Amino acid sequence: MEAATSHLLNVRADFPILAREIDGRPIVYLDSAATSQKPAAVIDALGGYYRRHNANVHRGVYTLAQEATELFEGARERIAAFTGGETATTIFTGNATEAINLVAYAWGRDNVGPGDVVLLTQMEHHSNIVPWQLLAEEVGADLRYLEVSDDGQLSLDQLDTELATGRVKLAAFTHISNVLGTINPVAEIASRVRAAGAVSLVDGAQGVPQIAVDVAGIGADFYVWTGHKALGPTGVGVLHGRRERLEDMRPFLGGGDMISTVGWEKSTWNELPWKFEAGTSMIADAVGLGAAIDYLTALGMDRVRAHEHELTRYALTRLAEVEGLRVIGPAGADERGGVISFEIEGIHPHDVAELANRENVCIRAGHHCAMPLMRRLGVPATARASFGPYNSQADADALVGALQRARDVFGL
Ligand SMILES: Cc1ncc(COP(=O)(O)O)c(C=O)c1O
Repeated sequence: MEAATSHLLNVRADFPILAREIDGRPIVYLDSAATSQKPAAVIDALGGYYRRHNANVHRGVYTLAQEATELFEGARERIAAFTGGETATTIFTGNATEAINLVAYAWGRDNVGPGDVVLLTQMEHHSNIVPWQLLAEEVGADLRYLEVSDDGQLSLDQLDTELATGRVKLAAFTHISNVLGTINPVAEIASRVRAAGAVSLVDGAQGVPQIAVDVAGIGADFYVWTGHKALGPTGVGVLHGRRERLEDMRPFLGGGDMISTVGWEKSTWNELPWKFEAGTSMIADAVGLGAAIDYLTALGMDRVRAHEHELTRYALTRLAEVEGLRVIGPAGADERGGVISFEIEGIHPHDVAELANRENVCIRAGHHCAMPLMRRLGVPATARASFGPYNSQADADALVGALQRARDVFGL
């Protein structure tokens, strides 16, 4: 019999933090959905920028300023190419949350009015709920939610029903759920939303780190993501926007860099993308994110996906051995990214995470910034393990071992 080919990557050594031991034991990092660890290439790019090239961008004529500008704008070009976006419509923000707020303010305040509907889903992160609540409250719009089925899926029929009302102005939905792991058919949703004359925003915070993303192919009006979950530094996120939308929008924040001319009474705006980048940007972080994207490009996003798929399938099989453990979300690894939320009968998720920590197994417990989804699932919280390119089957084994011992501690 031929052995099945393994798609698992072997890149743990590229991540310096994972060489660290705590109390003489290695770190089993299973919280990449919260933030990823960083390869040496990213840490070196950050340090290298500050050691050799630091200056403010765009305005300086001296060599350092030119180098800083080239590094910053070069990172933007590579990041745009990585996600299939145009360079001019790839805007740096502080994180995904800021990118969503940018759209909610700069597009939402001028385009959503009383009685209009902003359509969300029950599986959204608070980042993709609260900015719309603030907008709806201010302009008198209604929020509606696509339901999540018991196996963690959205219904396209319900989407059609909502769109048929003619009231939906914007639909905002996640690419991959940070709780359920569900991979949503975002291109199909965006196309139906567009056909109904509404605008779409995809929250790609969990998408870009895990699967090959082509924002042009997805065809949404806005696609946002965050650098720190994609092996990059904190402090930098990305908004990809459809050019005509961005051109029609008023700026979000006013200040330096985003203007073309400033008079006593009025100003005119800089071209895209800088119209939406007020003040000094997170230059070093953008350069660091460029290095992260280079690293992911060299690995290949198809290989990253194959790795996480295989690891998720393995972990699901191993977790099934733990008595009383219930996995939340789609049943199989094919329909999900590398995120597994679960509960263990008789142990609160916080205790699960606490006991796992005694063995250096880093998992998260709580509502995962998705309180409405917890309500829908009928649970106060879940425990969650999530994978990155640096994880291995041994990490999943360590998790299962820690969970078995947690059951022992509770006398289960
Ligand atoms: C699905 C999803 N959307 C948005 C965010 C927000 O990302 P950030 O805090 O970097 O803005 C997260 C982070 O957990 C997320 O998982």
